[in-house]
Amino acid sequence: MSKVHVQTKINGEEVEFLCEPRQSLLEVLRETLGFTGTKEGCNDGNCGACSAIVDGSLINSCLMLAVEAQGKAITTVEGLAGPEGLHPLQRKFLEHASLQCGICTPGFLVASKALLDQNPNPTEHQVRHWLAGNLCRCTGYDKIVRAVLDAAQTLRAGV
Ligand code: FES
Ligand code: FES
Repeated sequence: MSKVHVQTKINGEEVEFLCEPRQSLLEVLRETLGFTGTKEGCNDGNCGACSAIVDGSLINSCLMLAVEAQGKAITTVEGLAGPEGLHPLQRKFLEHASLQCGICTPGFLVASKALLDQNPNPTEHQVRHWLAGNLCRCTGYDKIVRAVLDAAQTLRAGV
């Protein structure tokens, strides 16, 4: 099958790749480009493990075709930490012990970043509602929600 040339930006860097028209963004991120922080769980839009931010919107990368990334800006979990270290969300997930096996964690981090980018001061209800598309089989969610609220406070304080 002939491949399609796609130009995109991932975590602030210009990235070009070739993909088949049938390939999902998740498949290309992981298997072509090596962004293995983005996880494959259900591969049908139900678990949120493959969450990415595309042009400011939270998406399930298993449901997006890689060719649709043409001209778009993508953020994966690898783009959260900066030169100054871990993103506050990552620090707070560690401090609150918000992960166990960790398979869901990149998706929760990316989804939470998308929330805080849009709403820097969410209520607990808004956090729970926003993260309803991300499934975790280990933590029971409370520690994740506490970490997101704590990270939001930290970001608002500019720490
Ligand atoms: S792998 Fe995409 S939603 Fe589960
Ligand atoms: S930490 Fe194991 S599924 Fe969430």
